[in-house]
Amino acid sequence: MASNEKVLFLPGDGIGPEVMAEARRVLEWLESNRALGFDITEGLAGGASYDAHGVPLTDDTMEAAMDADAVLFGSVGGPKWEGLDFSLKPERGLLRLRKEMDLFANLRPAIVFDALAEASTLKPEIVSGLDIMIVRELTGGIYYGEPRGIETLENGARRGINTQVYTTPEIERVARVGFELARKRQGRVCSAEKANVMESGVLWREEVQRVRDEEYPDVELTHMYADNAAMQLVRDPRQFDVIVTDNLFGDILSDEAAMLTGSLGMLPSASLGAADDMGRRRALYEPVHGSAPDIAGRGLANPLACVLSLGMMLRYSFDLGSEADLVDTAVSNVLSEGLRTTDIMQPGKTGVSTSAMGDALIRELDKVGA
Ligand code: IPM
Ligand code: MN
Repeated sequence: MASNEKVLFLPGDGIGPEVMAEARRVLEWLESNRALGFDITEGLAGGASYDAHGVPLTDDTMEAAMDADAVLFGSVGGPKWEGLDFSLKPERGLLRLRKEMDLFANLRPAIVFDALAEASTLKPEIVSGLDIMIVRELTGGIYYGEPRGIETLENGARRGINTQVYTTPEIERVARVGFELARKRQGRVCSAEKANVMESGVLWREEVQRVRDEEYPDVELTHMYADNAAMQLVRDPRQFDVIVTDNLFGDILSDEAAMLTGSLGMLPSASLGAADDMGRRRALYEPVHGSAPDIAGRGLANPLACVLSLGMMLRYSFDLGSEADLVDTAVSNVLSEGLRTTDIMQPGKTGVSTSAMGDALIRELDKVGA
């Protein structure tokens, strides 16, 4: 790598700082053992930023994120900030990053590691070998649509409003990401919406089909109502290769897919913007799990989703495929050794803390990659 890549760490709240610390050790291992240099800086996001600055993300941190080659994000939120005005809630910090960085494509791979097939709440014969990619639209839809708000009607009743809205370009660009990924996988895309009840779903279905017919005739495309997709995910998840869906359905379906893998603590994600002339994309990587305030600060959190998110950063932002493979292998090996944080604990396995899991990853890296 010619120059140092700028990586911004935003640990956030709850278990965010704990899992990020382990990801940082993995990145630092790569610096010491590979000819790689990263320019790592850290900032505040979410409740941590609110406590220090009165806002869930400062303009300075926003600027640092725009300037970074990649952002690694922990998690935000917690009961401490629940009473805040909507505009100040920790989650707004993350939503602002996604929107201003224009990270429209959220990749959430759900992979079942062999060693964890038994840890899933589903039968091993249903989930073993599972490898699906959920592509969630991340900067549009009901998360951002206007009008929104809570109003009081003349009769005194209150009304809450959110708007589901998608334009053709918004659908096209995320569909393309799904088709491109499918070409490198099994060549199959399933698009999920509610075209049976929502006009935005009808448009979604038509546009995804058109993009496929015009630009990706080699990729197989099927359409599914999102409720059916939720059901099919637990009935027979391996029927899917790539799932492309909107912001809200993607939020829900990806939590569901996460549990197929054994734990929400295993699912990484990448949020990508459009490629520039150099082929570079703005990018933010984060574990799909939330801030888990109930276990925060107790060394119980599973750092693997965050470490796998770091792996996605190496792969997608820095084109470091073999280093990403190394990180994935280290994760797979510590699981095969029987090490488990509480969320994936099984009888006969060895329970470890967050940092002990980090120690084991470093040991594996030393063994496999030094
Ligand atoms: C996620 C989270 C976020 C979302 C929250 C924290 C705003 O649930 O990344 O899935 O709803 O998108
Ligand atoms: Mn979610």
